[in-house]
Amino acid sequence: MEAAGYYSNCKKNDGICEGICDGEHGSKAVLSMSRLKCALRGFDLRALLFLLIGLPIIIFVIYVHGQKVTYFLRPIWEKPPEPFTVLPHYYSENVSMANQCKLHGWKVRETPRRVFDAVLFSNELDILDIRWHELGPYVTEFVLLESNSTFTGLEKKLHFKENRQKFEFAESRLTYGMIGGRFVKGENPFVEESYQRVALDQLLKIAGITDDDLLIMSDVDEIPSGHTINLLRWCDDTPEILHLQLKNYLYSFEFFLDDKSWRASIHRYRAGTTRYAHYRKQMSFWQTQGGTAASAFGINDFIFKMKAYSHVDRIRFSYFLNPKRIQHVICKGPISLTCFLKSTRSRRSSSPLGPIPSTFSAVHLPAYLLEKADQYRYLLPGNCMRESD
Ligand SMILES: *[C@@H]1O[C@H](CO)[C@@H](O)[C@H](O)[C@H]1NC(C)=O
Ligand SMILES: *[C@@H]1O[C@H](CO)[C@@H](O)[C@H](O)[C@H]1NC(C)=O
Repeated sequence: MEAAGYYSNCKKNDGICEGICDGEHGSKAVLSMSRLKCALRGFDLRALLFLLIGLPIIIFVIYVHGQKVTYFLRPIWEKPPEPFTVLPHYYSENVSMANQCKLHGWKVRETPRRVFDAVLFSNELDILDIRWHELGPYVTEFVLLESNSTFTGLEKKLHFKENRQKFEFAESRLTYGMIGGRFVKGENPFVEESYQRVALDQLLKIAGITDDDLLIMSDVDEIPSGHTINLLRWCDDTPEILHLQLKNYLYSFEFFLDDKSWRASIHRYRAGTTRYAHYRKQMSFWQTQGGTAASAFGINDFIFKMKAYSHVDRIRFSYFLNPKRIQHVICKGPISLTCFLKSTRSRRSSSPLGPIPSTFSAVHLPAYLLEKADQYRYLLPGNCMRESD
């Protein structure tokens, strides 16, 4: 490839070289010699210049902006390395549990496993409400950790604590933890994130998790279907670690992106081994419409998220944060937002850089969302425009 690059440059710039490089004259030996020369001629100038000037500059830039560079590369190295072992997933409403387990090659248990749902909470109150109602019938203990610091070290309110009364229904099964941020300036956000995840590991122990309990590891907005969790808790011999394939929505359930979200995982807990981390753990991957992953929030939440999780320099211009503009852009199909969202959402997909078409299928969405359609109308197709809250 590179040779070809020099080759064509050479053709463009140098008439004498052209004939030779065209490769229509001369013996093979002469030809390859000339080609070498030809390549070297291009090589000399460019490569030398590059080595002497370009390389030091690049190294310097990487040194200074190391953090941003890792961000830039993040989508690449966070892609799941191939290949997962892909398992089929069977589900229909009226199939008995014994049969469901059997279809997957598993045995049905006499009693279900205990299920722990653990999340790091930021500010997604509505989505948390939907999540906990979806999983509620199958979850033994909800575990929630929040911090007064964002991953980027900005101060943030304790949104859950302030709204805890809205989650009365979960109170008897809730282990809540709050951890103070470290507020280190200029640090890579991954450090704060890891710090919070380690704390969540501790909180799980406090919640009383023991070996062979099921642990759901996913972001608040990655919601597995209740029936999927129900199946896993009722069957024996399920994989130790299972990644769920979730449908990926952007901004609301109107904008379906793809069904390639794989980050949510279900673990059979092993003390000392299982760690709350949010990356690929193992090979099994369930080919399932096992739930939804949506980034869905009010405009102000959205601005908060962009400030908190993306890199401040990218949203330097307050114009981009004008609520009216954001609303408009979103409702036309989140086009330029994909750039913003790259930083917060791209972990889960290689999002196309075009407008995302509306979807009008709202089948298989979390039941509670549909029950409460009046309250959560803004999450449903055709209801994008909303009050800036
Ligand atoms: C599912 O089972 C319930 C109760 O057994 C029954 O009333 C219902 O008709 C069944 N639904 C379908 C689609 O078979
Ligand atoms: C964050 O929480 C910790 C622990 O409660 C507290 O010591 C600290 O003052 C808080 N920081 C801010 C900025 O609120």
